[in-house]
This record gives sequence, C-alpha cells and structure tokens, in this order.
Amino acid sequence: MNVDRQRLEQSIEELGRIGQTPRGGLTRLALTDEDKRGRDWMVARMREAGLSVTVDQMGNIFGQRPGTAPLAPVMMGSHVDSVPTGGRYDGQLGVLCGLEVIRTLNDEKLSTRHPVTLAIFTNEEGARFQPAMIASGVMAGKIALEDAYNARDKDGIRLVDELERIGYLGPEPCVPRPFRAYLELHIEQGPFLEEEGLSVGVVEGIVAIAWSRLTIHGVQDHAGPTPMRIRHDALVAAAEVVSGVRRIAREIGGELVTTIGNLVVTPNIVNAIPGRVTLSIDMRDPSDATLDRALARLEPIVREACEREGVRYELENYWRVPYTPFDRGVVDTVERAARAAGARYRRILSGAGHDAQYMAAIGPTGMVFVPSHDGRSHCEEEFTPIDDIEYGARTLLVAALDLAGRA
Ligand code: GLV
Ligand code: MN
Ligand code: MN
Repeated sequence: MNVDRQRLEQSIEELGRIGQTPRGGLTRLALTDEDKRGRDWMVARMREAGLSVTVDQMGNIFGQRPGTAPLAPVMMGSHVDSVPTGGRYDGQLGVLCGLEVIRTLNDEKLSTRHPVTLAIFTNEEGARFQPAMIASGVMAGKIALEDAYNARDKDGIRLVDELERIGYLGPEPCVPRPFRAYLELHIEQGPFLEEEGLSVGVVEGIVAIAWSRLTIHGVQDHAGPTPMRIRHDALVAAAEVVSGVRRIAREIGGELVTTIGNLVVTPNIVNAIPGRVTLSIDMRDPSDATLDRALARLEPIVREACEREGVRYELENYWRVPYTPFDRGVVDTVERAARAAGARYRRILSGAGHDAQYMAAIGPTGMVFVPSHDGRSHCEEEFTPIDDIEYGARTLLVAALDLAGRA
C-alpha cells in the first residue's frame, strides 16, 4: 500500500494556485478571500473523500472518516493560511498529505478501529492576527476565545468579523477534544535534513517561543528646521534596539535565535522625524531558562536606547509557548513508520511553531518533517522535492494506520 504520488503532486499544484504570487509563491493571509477559496477547495476535496465536515467557533475545519469502534480519532492536520509572499508548502503540505492518507485508505477500502480526522487550523501563521497558532491555542484552552475573537489585523479588523464574513464562524465549541493522537506533517524550514541527505525528520519537540511588542514614542517634527540637538527620534532608538536584540543572541549563544521582523514607522515620510515606532521581537530557544535570560536582557537594552534618545516606550511580552516535547510513544511510532516507509531519517527538534505545539497540551502528539531546499521558508523560494514528500506522506500513512489500528 502506498500513497498516490501523482495525485498528491496534482493537489499541491491545484491548492498552490489559490493565492499564487507571480514568482510562484503564495500570499494567502488568514481569513482573506484567498483563505476562503483555499478552505472551500479543501472542504470540497474532504467531502469528495467521504469525510463528514464540521467547523468550530474558531473556524477550525474537521473532516472525519469513521472508525469501526466508538473511539477517539487519530487526527492529522496543519494550516492553509500563509505569510505574505510565502511558499506553497508551509502548512499546505501537512493538510494535503493528510488528505492523501485518507484517499489511500479509501482506495484500499481499509477500515480502522479509531476514526481518522483531517484538521485545518485557523490563522496558524500569526502574520495577520497575533499570536500565531491562535486557533489551536483556543482549542487547547491556552488562549481565551474572547481574546482571539478580538485580535485585530493592522487595519483594525477583528478576527471574529472576518470569520463571519468568509462563512467560517462555525457552531462547534472550540474546546479540547479527545484524540488518540495528533500527527502533523510539515516542511522542516531549516537546512539540516537536506544537508544530511535525509528525507524525513522524526520531530521530538518544539522550541520555546516568546513574542514581544515595543512601542517607542518620540516627537514628530520637521526634518529640515529641527536641529539635531533637540530631536527625539523614535526610529533612532528603535535602530539601537534592533542591534541590541541581535547582540542578545550573539552573547548568550547556543541555539538562541532573535528576530525583529516587523517595524511600523509613523508617519513614515521623507521629511518628518519619526514620532512613533512599533516593532515586534521574536525570540526562541530549546531551553525555557535560556529564553528567560534572553527576555531579562531585553528591557535594559530598550531602556538604555530610549533614555539616550529621550523617548518613552511601552514593552509588552504578550505571548509565550514553553518548550514542548512530543509524546514518546507517538515519536517512536513515527520513527518506526519512517523506517517502514524506507526513508532515510533522523530525529530532529522544530525551531518553528506549529499547531502541534498546542495540540501536545491536549493529547499524544508527534510530527513528520520533510526537507526544505536550502533551508528556506516563509519566502517564495520554499521548495521540497516530490521524492521527499512521498517518503513523508508514506511515513504519515504508516504512522496513522498504526495508531488508528486496522479493523
Ligand atoms: C510559525 O510559522 C512560526 O514559527 O512563527
Ligand atoms: Mn506552518
Ligand atoms: Mn509558517
């Protein structure tokens, strides 16, 4: 028994056209019209595969293939939203490989004891609404439904209003639901598997993640007549914070990574001194203690930069996910599946956040990684060869079947 490589390639191609960029990437931000079209396409494929589809209060989509016994399902899933000018593999591949597993079970007329469910989570990326993984976070009870509903995009539009607008504000409660196991296939988004010539990563866990938001209040003024000695430039302070945050990673070292990826400058014109800057800070490390040390260094850097420029600031550490080890039994199952699938594999840790991180708080969870070409992702160049995808999908199939049990 094997997955249908051509069918899988075809669906990657078809879903990849929805929100495709001219350079072959993907812009399908959460709860936009493109996201709705991607969701609609998936729901149609799920119904064709005989799944009964439900939608919960956070717009998470579940398609269930019944089992022969009244047991909790084996869930597979990921997300179909993307970052702006992202790639067509991040999230998409997990959902499509899950669909391919179900199509293969159908082709083989194979019944399982546990039901098998395909899940699509809302706003995994955190690109439009913060934080990332917001819908699995609500499901796991880690984020309040009301807070998630009130999350606003950069134009002030609320998440709940967009859910309603695109027709995905479902009736099912978004609460922890029992599952036998949750399995997520995903691209690695780093360089290791490709460098080592491997097709599959057996994911052991996900690093701890901290997101902060800094607002710097300077004094907006004219770029010409205002002498340098009386300026209070929010962007000059922000620039010091940018290099200071890079310094945190350099000094603490190890596997700590720090990123400032979003900077909003006001009024952002040529001839005005920036009056306000809002910026994001993303820090990650496998160790929660190390991440605590990094966070403790942030405030002094911000304070000193702002004092030097004579500006005020507000710093908010608003999102934290602890280091999340996956269930040992599920990890072992994935490893056995990778071996049975004939894949060259190794165990690996994820540096990216995934819905699996929150799902691990509810029940036994594991992940399957496939390589990312040149380690690139969250960019249009994102690419995974179909040979590796096939090994990954086969690993997912064997693991899901093992956990769901042949009837
Ligand atoms: C999700 O893509 C994240 O790791 O930020
Ligand atoms: Mn993803
Ligand atoms: Mn992503």
